[in-house]
Amino acid sequence: MIKRIDHIAIVVPDLEAGTGFWAEALGLPVERIETVPDEGVDVAFLPVGESEIELLRPTDTESGVARFLEKRGPGLHHICLEVEDIRATLDRLRAANVPLINEQPKIGSGGKKFAFVHPKGTGGVLVELYELPGQM
Ligand code: CO
Repeated sequence: MIKRIDHIAIVVPDLEAGTGFWAEALGLPVERIETVPDEGVDVAFLPVGESEIELLRPTDTESGVARFLEKRGPGLHHICLEVEDIRATLDRLRAANVPLINEQPKIGSGGKKFAFVHPKGTGGVLVELYELPGQM
């Protein structure tokens, strides 16, 4: 079961430019900014109801996000859906011949499980799946 949109991630060249529209013009709060060295990004989190806008700024020229910015410019990077059971969701997608970037869930901060679905199988949008800990 798909529970909600957890976040929408947008690549920005720098966080000031990125927060100009979302925080200053629109008035969304910047709840926190985290550095994620493994992915080579700084992330600004702007909550919107049950979801968040995440602004991703590459900190490492070799990261996937840096390559995305270089190739495609700033803009939508991925949409993340929270699911009840990530393994069941991946099985379902495999059965539907949807190409997966992560065949098995990875474990992220706070013990959440996540996996990416290839944009080739989704109509061109990178889709992330989350299963958050302590919830069924
Ligand atoms: Co994400």
